[in-house]
Amino acid sequence: MKKDFLTLLDLSSEEMHALLERASELKSGKDSSACPLIGKSIGLMFDKTSTRTRISFQTGIYQLGAQAIYINTKDMQLGRGETIEDTARVLARYLHGIVIRTYAHSTIEKLAANAGIPVINGLTDLHHPCQALADMLTVKEKKGRLRDVRLAYVGDGNNVANSLLEAALLTGMDLVLACPHGYEPDKKIYEKVLSGGGKVKIVTDPREAVKDADVLYTDTWISMGQEREVERRKKIFKEYQINRKLLSLAKPDAIVMHCLPAHRGEEITDDVIDSPQSVVIDQAENRLHTQKALLEMLVK
Ligand code: CP
Ligand code: NVA
Repeated sequence: MKKDFLTLLDLSSEEMHALLERASELKSGKDSSACPLIGKSIGLMFDKTSTRTRISFQTGIYQLGAQAIYINTKDMQLGRGETIEDTARVLARYLHGIVIRTYAHSTIEKLAANAGIPVINGLTDLHHPCQALADMLTVKEKKGRLRDVRLAYVGDGNNVANSLLEAALLTGMDLVLACPHGYEPDKKIYEKVLSGGGKVKIVTDPREAVKDADVLYTDTWISMGQEREVERRKKIFKEYQINRKLLSLAKPDAIVMHCLPAHRGEEITDDVIDSPQSVVIDQAENRLHTQKALLEMLVK
């Protein structure tokens, strides 16, 4: 049966650890002959802009021996009223997998339910699981482990935060999120993680979250699709900035992460994102290696 990757919890803890191992192996370059997807075609359907997700998938797919077909959904008949269900059924006759970036999470659920090929979530308003895979590889590389690493997420309880919550459940990481009231992560996801034994906590004070943290993580205050809320959000999140002062409360060897793109001077300052403690470029590189391991696992 085909397997989709719509949220991080589509993987078991064992599968995720195996995937991270494989990603490290692929990254080391020792297995450069592996072209498991030779002759295959993977569609990349994007409703939103992207630098990392699109280009790391395109490159990774090529490196695995397959071709990537980039599809700006504006150019598809979807825009003229063809349903997502019919689109899914047809694309499954041509392609061997689909990566999709869209708004409503229900869109990818519909796509996955109607396409007999693996569907990979390249970001929805609710989840960003490919990002969390790269994040976990980065933390593992820098800290030597995932279990009990204290990760403080500061800012909006958005798609990135929701996927980090699920990562905490799969890894045993200790996750504290500092979010303003009303901007917490998805309640259902949080409760599921908590009831599954995840060591997760939500606070409002960023200083409380980052105290003794091994990892500080932030993301934009204004996600794609929220452009009309810019001014309001900038006021609400003003105190949720990773700057030198906040960083000084974390462990001295703490690393700083950001999924990028960064809005310098808003959620993070230049001196922090450009400091030796910042690992954001390694984190972006790891998108490539983890997604290659994911494609190897899912695409048959
Ligand atoms: N982090 C991330 O998903 O970046 P892009 O929006 O550039 O793909
Ligand atoms: N939360 C951000 C992540 C971008 C990679 C967004 O959805 O725009």
